Amino acid sequence: MNRSIVEKAQKYFTTGVSLITSSSPHGQNVMAAEWTMQISYKPMLIAIFIHEGNATFKNIKQTREFGINVSSEEQTMAVNIAGGHSRKEIDKLKIKDAFDTIPSKNKLSHDCRVYYKCRM
Ligand SMILES: Cc1cc2nc3c(=O)[nH]c(=O)nc-3n(C[C@H](O)[C@H](O)[C@H](O)COP(=O)(O)O)c2cc1C
Repeated sequence: MNRSIVEKAQKYFTTGVSLITSSSPHGQNVMAAEWTMQISYKPMLIAIFIHEGNATFKNIKQTREFGINVSSEEQTMAVNIAGGHSRKEIDKLKIKDAFDTIPSKNKLSHDCRVYYKCRM
């Protein structure tokens, strides 16, 4: 197939975006992840695809737990920050007014559509 058509199709393919929360060894963190999908009802299984170079990957590899916060339309800015920067450079959760964290491990904010506490 024509390469430019394939590239265009990839660009316009849409899915939802989740905010993946995790902690240690890179500290509390959040990243944006589009490649997140439910793959089984019983048991409930969710697959997420995270690049091994991401701080989130190292956090989850160590703790084997993380949060999936399905983002809402109101969280466009949060998604841009979570997906545009790495915890290896900045502490994204400390950026003023970007994330409305609530005092529950890996749960982000009431703006999220739904929150899943996950373990591997
Ligand atoms: C809308 C959006 C969706 C993304 N989806 C994924 C994804 O599914 N998997 C992934 O590894 N990176 C994805 N990224 C890129 C990561 O969010 C990005 O590399 C981030 O800086 C990683 O943060 P961390 O190093 O703090 O973990 C996405 C970025 C954006 C903006």
